[in-house]
Amino acid sequence: MMRRMRISITSALLASLLLTACAERKQDGTEASEQSGQDASKIRIGITFDTFVLERWIRDRDVFVDTAQKMGAEVDVQTANGDVQTQKEQIRKFADENMDAIVVVATDCYLLTDEVEDAREKGIPVISYDRLIQDVQTDLYVTVDSEAVGMLMAQNIQDNLPDGGNVVMICGPEMDSNSADIVNGFENSLQDGSWNVIYKGYVESWAAENSVKVVADAFAGTDGRIDAIMCGNDGLAGYAIRSLSERQLAGDVVVVGQDADLEACQRIVEGTQSMTVYKPINDLARTAAEYTVNLARDGVLSGSDSPESDVKETEDGHAVPYVGLEPVAVTAENMDSVIVDSGFHSREEVYLNVGN
Ligand code: GAL
Repeated sequence: MMRRMRISITSALLASLLLTACAERKQDGTEASEQSGQDASKIRIGITFDTFVLERWIRDRDVFVDTAQKMGAEVDVQTANGDVQTQKEQIRKFADENMDAIVVVATDCYLLTDEVEDAREKGIPVISYDRLIQDVQTDLYVTVDSEAVGMLMAQNIQDNLPDGGNVVMICGPEMDSNSADIVNGFENSLQDGSWNVIYKGYVESWAAENSVKVVADAFAGTDGRIDAIMCGNDGLAGYAIRSLSERQLAGDVVVVGQDADLEACQRIVEGTQSMTVYKPINDLARTAAEYTVNLARDGVLSGSDSPESDVKETEDGHAVPYVGLEPVAVTAENMDSVIVDSGFHSREEVYLNVGN
């Protein structure tokens, strides 16, 4: 159902996208730098997160706000608490307040069309953070490459079970555009025929109760025949491993997740989870903040370093300037070099239950 197309950026295309963005802002007469003069202290950014219940988003928030503030911007942080109606209202409020830029971690990538369109018509750039908002143009998509995430998950399962086996897929919500990208990357990598996907389910939102339900469904239909479980995030991996433990199977089934949540890292060194995917969230949030402030202030797309720049098309064909960071597979072998040495989690926290 979800189609994803990636095309290489040409400088002409990027230039024309930028000109379009600037032109829209000028026509409206509310171009950000005019409102604020050249005084960076007056740049105002509204950011709405899907949720803060999942561990990673707290870090996204803190680094984003810190970077933007250091660049002289003010940030109004809101959370939709997983409710799309709330998020719509937050975007409308930001637009009514004439924010210089609006940043959205979409609760539902398919239901924000009117709010985003209206904000952009007022000349306010809208940034798709982490998840690509569909059915409407946004000014920038900053993320970690989710198709690569799916490929890394598949690679770990293949490394651990070279002769193939039965795979269960417990995927993230379909309304999160990253879920489809992960599934594509995963399935394309497991095409060689020795892999049998015996169950595939999507949780309805990232909420805990939905996750528990999908994990229960997966086990109900496949009991005893599971060799590997691909989980849309580490929260889901936690529920899957709990179900495996109840069956005395934890550690015998290959389980992969993403986000490098602390509990997942602990499970990896304990041996019940095989891998997680580390997303360089500090870099992501810092990059997103830099691009956002520069876009709001000067109408240019730039950050202090240049991760892969590209254009990504939404499913309905809007070409969105894209900045994508690379994910990293984390196993017990590289836990120290990737997670501990980078300070993402401390050694004490990661090895809390096993000692080191
Ligand atoms: C996705 C994101 C993942 C993860 C998930 C919630 O959109 O790409 O990294 O954060 O939301 O766990």
